[in-house]
Amino acid sequence: MGLESKFVWMDGKLVPYAEATVPFMTVSLHYGIGVFEGIRCYDTSRGPAIFRAREHATRLLDSARVLGFRDLPWSTDELVQAFRLVVDANGFKDCYIRPVIYLADGGWNLNLDGGRPALGIAVWEWKNYLGDESKEKGIRANVSTFTRHHPNVMMTKAKITGNYANSTLAKTESVRLGFDEAIMLDPQGYLAECTGENIFLVQRGKIYTPPTAAVLEGITRDALITIAQDLGYQVIETMISRDKLYIVDEVFVCGTAAEVVALSEIDFRKIGLGKMGPVTRQIQAVFHQAVRGEHPRSEDWLEYV
Ligand SMILES: Cc1ncc(COP(=O)(O)O)c(C=O)c1O
Repeated sequence: MGLESKFVWMDGKLVPYAEATVPFMTVSLHYGIGVFEGIRCYDTSRGPAIFRAREHATRLLDSARVLGFRDLPWSTDELVQAFRLVVDANGFKDCYIRPVIYLADGGWNLNLDGGRPALGIAVWEWKNYLGDESKEKGIRANVSTFTRHHPNVMMTKAKITGNYANSTLAKTESVRLGFDEAIMLDPQGYLAECTGENIFLVQRGKIYTPPTAAVLEGITRDALITIAQDLGYQVIETMISRDKLYIVDEVFVCGTAAEVVALSEIDFRKIGLGKMGPVTRQIQAVFHQAVRGEHPRSEDWLEYV
């Protein structure tokens, strides 16, 4: 995967990619203590533009607060400015931005207050996260044998690095079984989300999605709810059982990395016609217009570099 770039933003300055390293004895590596974001920047007719940069910066600071970091020195405005700077320095147009707040020193007693927080921001050109053909053909998923986090165990509102061990368990199992992605149920057995995406169902022209209590409050999810409502669809947040997945007309997933992708098959059952359905297609198309600056919502959602 081409993760390389010319520069990475590390603790306030741009450093060459090869120098953006952390020592092996960094507690965040050993215990998964860190918070991160995944953000996309899109090529538009007015130059590169970061999709919902402010919301991502806010969620990064919220994740840090949830994990327990106190008195971090970065404001939302400074973070957005740093995202712009690192994209611009690398000369990228379409790219993915990855800020991580971690403990650069100390914290070996499992106490955040004993460590020094640091921030790094990498950027790279990342095309289709779920594969080149996923956008058109859709992907195949299974319901994972692993359960998604309980909100009082792993803090589902936060993108904590350690939370992604759960996603890795599910995704690895799913791919080894021959699927593309894993669907995860919450500890009560209701539909939660995928390993890195939120999930929507379409039945008889209405759109359904699980409530946010046990899932990451996706920024793409939020944008798609707005887009769907703009298009006149009713979007219903409700508890959804596993069997409902098998009988609806369409299922799609969304996230910053994956964007909008249909599920064509779940647990060896064809969903709808076994390919992207019309509602998913329409929402996917509007989403692509919005991120490229070609939609009335773009003005609110894009931060030009
Ligand atoms: C577990 C999980 N759910 C949902 C999402 C989608 O969130 P967003 O649309 O903000 O990228 C992500 C990706 O960040 C994720 O990791």
